[in-house]
Amino acid sequence: MIRLIKPYISFAEVEDDFKEIFASGIFTKGKHVAALRQEIAHYTGAKYAFLTTSATTALSTALKILNIKSGDEVIVSDFSFPATANVVEDIGAVPVFADVSLDTFNLLPEELEKKITTKTRSVIFVDAFGNPSGLHAIKEICTKHAIPLIEDAACAIGSSENNEKCGKVADLTCFSFHPRKLLTTGEGGAITVNDDSLAGQLEIKLNHGAEIAGDGTQDFVDYGYNYRMSELQALMGRKQLIKLDDIVKHRNEVKESYRQALEPLGFQIQKTGSGIRHNCQSIVFKVPQGINRDTLIALLRTHEIETTIGTYCLSGGTYYARKYNTVQPNADFLEKNTITFPCFIDIDTSYISAKVQELTKSL
Ligand SMILES: Cc1ncc(COP(=O)(O)O)c(C=O)c1O
Repeated sequence: MIRLIKPYISFAEVEDDFKEIFASGIFTKGKHVAALRQEIAHYTGAKYAFLTTSATTALSTALKILNIKSGDEVIVSDFSFPATANVVEDIGAVPVFADVSLDTFNLLPEELEKKITTKTRSVIFVDAFGNPSGLHAIKEICTKHAIPLIEDAACAIGSSENNEKCGKVADLTCFSFHPRKLLTTGEGGAITVNDDSLAGQLEIKLNHGAEIAGDGTQDFVDYGYNYRMSELQALMGRKQLIKLDDIVKHRNEVKESYRQALEPLGFQIQKTGSGIRHNCQSIVFKVPQGINRDTLIALLRTHEIETTIGTYCLSGGTYYARKYNTVQPNADFLEKNTITFPCFIDIDTSYISAKVQELTKSL
């Protein structure tokens, strides 16, 4: 089976360091966690970086330190993975679904403006498939209304808009290091911030609510969590961060070769705005009119090619549709009509594109 993605890390790259970690017995809160925090901050241009167990726990913590509570409204990009809305629902706040662009797949500024009320406490902008198009425009609206912006950059490590990397722009940026991402720690995530006070609160929340004095004693000034990444995971992350820019470059080449082969067949690739460096976490097309996307995915699977849908219309999932009944039309269309193609280091896109051409003729 040609898989959607293969990890950009081998056991050989970590073997010696893993041996050292095992010999030291330091599996948590050690030098690799400290180093990866600094390296992510440096790479993204953010002042601080924190590591977590996933983007979900990162997003959840971001909402908590913003003190978002039951009854508050949080506006969310509607074309995303369910975690984006689930973290809002989980704390009793109301996810207000806002529609996205049919070109970039990202939150539309005019849709955001329409959804802002006196109850809005935050906005979660999603870099769909790692594409940060429109991030600065959304930030500007949030600043105008004094609403803190959380960026769900689960897919966006290595992307930038206007030469500012994801991680530097929003008030809080949350990354995922799940194996479908360019950098994986198995499971894992990170939060970046620039604000000293938010950083101070994160330090406490992510350490069981403890404030640590100079002599090492702990005062539990808040309630908190253990969402820590281990040393083994942090080491994996460090090894891939060094290669990240090369990975992004390669994925852009792959995207271009798919674009050249598939656009003449009527497939439309996810667009990026000006000033975008897209990490191409997923290479996603709208299928040509008249092609049944699910049939195409199933047919490709019989030829040992793994493809998948783009992502989900959050407002249209059974739970949210029943509870809020606010299905957004563009996100709904994109959920039904987008397809993601495989991309990894030694991929042969001409074989896949030729199969797509052959199979779409028969549909
Ligand atoms: C946009 C988005 N947000 C959040 C998540 C959740 O990430 P994690 O699995 O690290 O919790 C994902 C996962 O793919 C995602 O795509």
